[in-house]
Amino acid sequence: MLHRACAIDLVTFCKDVPPGDGRRLKCLLRFKEQGKAKFDPKCFEMLNTRTQLFAKASKVKRSSQKSSRKLSTGISEPFFITTPIFYVNAEPHIGHIYTAVLADSSARFHRLIGRNPVKFSTGTDEHGLKIQQAASHGNKEPSQFCDHVSGLFKTALNKCEISYTDYIRTTETRHKENVNSFWNILSEKGYIYKGKYEGWYCTADEAFVAEDQTTLVKWPNGEEQRVSQESNRPVEWFSEENYLFKLSQLKEELKHWLRSGPVIRPLRHYNLVKSWLDQELVDLSISRPSTRLSWGIPVPDDSSQTIYVWLDALLNYMTVAKHSQPHMNIWPPSVHVIGKDILKFHAIYWPAFLLAAGMEPPKSLLVHGHWLVDDQKMSKTTGNVVSPQSCIDLVTATGLRYFLMHEGVPASDGNFSMTRLVRIANSDLADGIGNLVSRCCGKNLNPLQSRLGVSPSSFESCGAPGSDLLSLLERTPDVVYNEFQQWNFYKGIDQIMALVRGANGFFQTMEPWKLKKEGQLDQLNATMAVTMETARVVGTLLQPIVPSYSERLLDKLGVPRENRSWDFARLRWTTTETPLGAQQAVLFPRIKSD
Ligand code: MSP
Repeated sequence: MLHRACAIDLVTFCKDVPPGDGRRLKCLLRFKEQGKAKFDPKCFEMLNTRTQLFAKASKVKRSSQKSSRKLSTGISEPFFITTPIFYVNAEPHIGHIYTAVLADSSARFHRLIGRNPVKFSTGTDEHGLKIQQAASHGNKEPSQFCDHVSGLFKTALNKCEISYTDYIRTTETRHKENVNSFWNILSEKGYIYKGKYEGWYCTADEAFVAEDQTTLVKWPNGEEQRVSQESNRPVEWFSEENYLFKLSQLKEELKHWLRSGPVIRPLRHYNLVKSWLDQELVDLSISRPSTRLSWGIPVPDDSSQTIYVWLDALLNYMTVAKHSQPHMNIWPPSVHVIGKDILKFHAIYWPAFLLAAGMEPPKSLLVHGHWLVDDQKMSKTTGNVVSPQSCIDLVTATGLRYFLMHEGVPASDGNFSMTRLVRIANSDLADGIGNLVSRCCGKNLNPLQSRLGVSPSSFESCGAPGSDLLSLLERTPDVVYNEFQQWNFYKGIDQIMALVRGANGFFQTMEPWKLKKEGQLDQLNATMAVTMETARVVGTLLQPIVPSYSERLLDKLGVPRENRSWDFARLRWTTTETPLGAQQAVLFPRIKSD
């Protein structure tokens, strides 16, 4: 008997709750947390399916902690990372590209450190009122409209070297099938009921907004309008029959998920979600009458209703997992990268849907701030969007990626400026790293066009400048590893650039052109070897941020492809001499700008 094996009496504590009901688990956990109960893991397993899932989740967590410590020893574990899927009501802007580059840098980093497989999904969110209206304003059939804009996103992501493994569109058959079967699971488990929904709806955000979260604003023309306080976008009053999801019943389980580890980063977003869960959680409307919303997936067995676009959209992550090989082995997602505007959908609705269906919620969410222009969020509605293509034309995709990762601090908003974009690309990519590489690969000081082996004596023979650079070179890879793991790409880049400055300073101090003139060949060779070794480490560390630039750098230094993983980011002693690549040494031509 469950309650006999446990030190707590479930019959007393859960007397109104039948066996198999998730609330028994909540009860059990509450008592365990309060230290009042000890219980046998066997009871825990027997309680219900969801209990087993939690047990499995904590096992997975424990093993992931162990294996991340062992990563450098080659133990591998799947890593499933996602971007949000982009609304196709408007063309891509650099806010979207930021989300994608952030996720891509992390995916590339995890590949380099040996996670396997790394699955990385992105795509487009194509249903809902917002898209229906955008298509009709453009006098296009919704499907034609979606094909076009989804194509624009795909092209922009490809140009920005986003290494996704699946590009999902919510209009695909595989996705519709998944949404249908998931709806049926929720329904069978008793989480869906028909009711009347009355309240405010914001079409621009595709979100229901509580009355106290709205304000009346007066526009300059004297007209009054009610808007969502969060997004400042207009809301409309809806009163209609639809299906509701019993969100209110999942509060305790959501709290439990939140307590299970650092599931939401940065901390202030975690705290925000915690505060939401301390307030009342009301049931969520998950369908709209198809007379109002026709562009979407019909409710199974009731075509008079269309499934709410956020339920449809969030399920994209599961569609991808179901279609990965082997089936679902990458579940749950390691991390969903999202902007702060869509936190509630990912931190409340999404885990609630999954818990209700008896599935594991995501392991973590990484929440980033917004790119602003003149202190306003970049958006089509505000009319202040910066197109990725205009940036690529100016500084190439490498320059854009570098700028976004160098300037983007996930915990805060960033201000976008074309002047700064050019300045940063020039100073770091063309001058800092570019100079380092062209100095040691130039024919003048390197007539044999080779990369010399490097040993402790190379550094010793360069005196104090050599030992200073050596200690920087020894420290940097571990510091960068930790910063990249913690999503502080900007800090990792700062460390790499400090190494670049160190190496350029070393080169300047050693004056190899004088050593050559004076015939001090040993010291000249040592100077060149040490500088090239530093450039190799820099190129290896920068791969997640600027992949094609790093590739050119490593190709130029003649680094074999199989020697580019994170293990090779450390200083390596070798006596082997390697021929340089034949390509020109200019990695990033300086940009002239008015
Ligand atoms: N379709 C939803 C997501 C559904 S995911 C199941 C959506 N789409 S969106 O196109 O509006 O936004 C996609 C991503 O771009 C979000 O993470 C959003 O935060 C991000 N950005 C949109 N504008 C942004 C900025 N100005 N700055 C940074 N990122 C921003 O929301």
